Amino acid sequence: MDDGGRWFADLERETVMASAALICDTEPWKDLTEHVNAIEKTHLRDLMNDVDRCQSMMVEIDGILLDYSRQRVRLDTMEKLLKLAEAARLRQKIDRMYNGDHINSTENRSVLHIALRAPRDKVICSDGKNVVPDVWYVLDKIKEFSERVRSGSWVGATGKALKDVVAIGIGGSFLGPLFVHTTLQTDPEAADCARGRQLRFLANVDPVDVARNISGLNPETTLVVVVSKTFTTAETMLNARTMREWISSALGIQAVAKHMVAVSTNLMLVEKFGIDPANTFAFWDWVGGRYSVCSAVGVLPLSLQYGFPIIEKFLNGASNIDNHFYSASFERNLPVLLGLLSVWNVTFLGYPARAILPYSQALEKFAPHIQQVSMESNGKGVSIDGIPLPFEAGEIDFGEPGTNGQHSFYQLIHQGRVVPCDFIGSIKSQQPIYLKGEVVSNHDELMSNFFAQPDALAYGKSPEQLLQDNVPDRLVTHKTFSGNRPSLSLLLPSLDAYNTGKLLAIYEHRIAVEGFIWGINSFDQWGVELGKVLASQVRKQLHLSRTKREPVQGFNFSTTTLLTRYLEVEPGTPSDATILPRV
Ligand code: F6P
Repeated sequence: MDDGGRWFADLERETVMASAALICDTEPWKDLTEHVNAIEKTHLRDLMNDVDRCQSMMVEIDGILLDYSRQRVRLDTMEKLLKLAEAARLRQKIDRMYNGDHINSTENRSVLHIALRAPRDKVICSDGKNVVPDVWYVLDKIKEFSERVRSGSWVGATGKALKDVVAIGIGGSFLGPLFVHTTLQTDPEAADCARGRQLRFLANVDPVDVARNISGLNPETTLVVVVSKTFTTAETMLNARTMREWISSALGIQAVAKHMVAVSTNLMLVEKFGIDPANTFAFWDWVGGRYSVCSAVGVLPLSLQYGFPIIEKFLNGASNIDNHFYSASFERNLPVLLGLLSVWNVTFLGYPARAILPYSQALEKFAPHIQQVSMESNGKGVSIDGIPLPFEAGEIDFGEPGTNGQHSFYQLIHQGRVVPCDFIGSIKSQQPIYLKGEVVSNHDELMSNFFAQPDALAYGKSPEQLLQDNVPDRLVTHKTFSGNRPSLSLLLPSLDAYNTGKLLAIYEHRIAVEGFIWGINSFDQWGVELGKVLASQVRKQLHLSRTKREPVQGFNFSTTTLLTRYLEVEPGTPSDATILPRV
């Protein structure tokens, strides 16, 4: 056998070994596939009548109540899902994560975002080294720096206090911090600490985003935080150069030292960019971008806005769930239950999407954050060993705060496609309002919808009921609701920093559970690379065509036509002078 033949034989052997390990080849998987037939014969209307069943599907942990009785599951479904968890070696996989094993095998890295919120005295090792002291070194540095900025002892180049912060970053270096900021903005305690300060996020490379972000800001009182794990992301780096120009054109290049700081794992590139290493806040390869909100990525801009003590509460909330996820039995483990139910919905019942529906305006940016955590983590087509999956993994996440969503896409989820829904509510409002003479307070009005929608989805309305209500025959089918549409409800005590941290960690771990069950690598993201490579070819072409009038070359007919059309119009930006937005 020649080398090529041997290589193929090896590959074949490895493929066979690995595919034998696919979760879909196990007995619990096959059992669940058969079990779908039994569930197809049930309706949530009937399942909801079984009070013992419903009782066992309520799980309360430290004030957070999960009710999954409106999932299309019976008690034996849950037993079967727990057997699937065993077959997937879920316990061992969680342990490996907490032990710092390189479970992100394609990048040869540990996955230790749990260390970012661990107490000082905890020992969590990556490659034999306890990483917790490094974490706290950076947290202490953030605490000290943010206090100096907030108190006015760190001032800008003209001696003025820095009261506005623009955080530049995209993806994981943006969405998590934006979610937490949006949530805390109206929490009374956090809002008090943020008085007189502004935090803005510049993510899109669209110059319009720059224009909107600098609108109304004065470079003299603005601090720019460049957040990038790699410090190579094209969008972030161009935005960072743009903001550097905005500062230096107003205050001189020496002002950059006082007005720009960075968060990155790539300290060398930060220094090359011109940011003082002393003003750089590190994190590490074992923190995935979308899992980085508890690192300096989120903690620095959020501490500048709210003060470190508030953000420490957020970290403590996440840490509380880390302990719960690690130690609670799977039957009472929030992330495990949620993860198993998602697998059941996506893979066995064949519902590809999930709607995240917070009945809270403060959680306005929760769905966009979870979109990245979930879809970048689990949007994979091969197993962790590289074997194509013969089943669907990953889910399509979208969402809007209730009640806005009700007036937008709920039509589809009530009468069109079946989309399992996560209803998230808070017992206490951050900003209560009651108008004398109204039937209920404004928060009770909001929450009436939170409690009603899950039942509307589960029970529906039958043609018989409609006829009883004297609905004309011709409208009966239009007005019928099939019901039997699954949802779950998560009721939080309040939306303060602590509970926000808990909510974040519940979803992070839920997504990891799904990936562990499907047997994929939830911690890499190769799918984002190809588009970046093609964009850099286009960038080269645009440069040559704009500066040397070179014709479009090397692209297919479609792209050539579009590019040619685009280049026909003069851009309105000279190639030999700097232009900044004028808003
Ligand atoms: O979109 C791909 C990605 O690598 C994400 O995973 C990451 O969160 C984002 O880009 C930003 O990367 P960085 O923090 O390195 O700028």
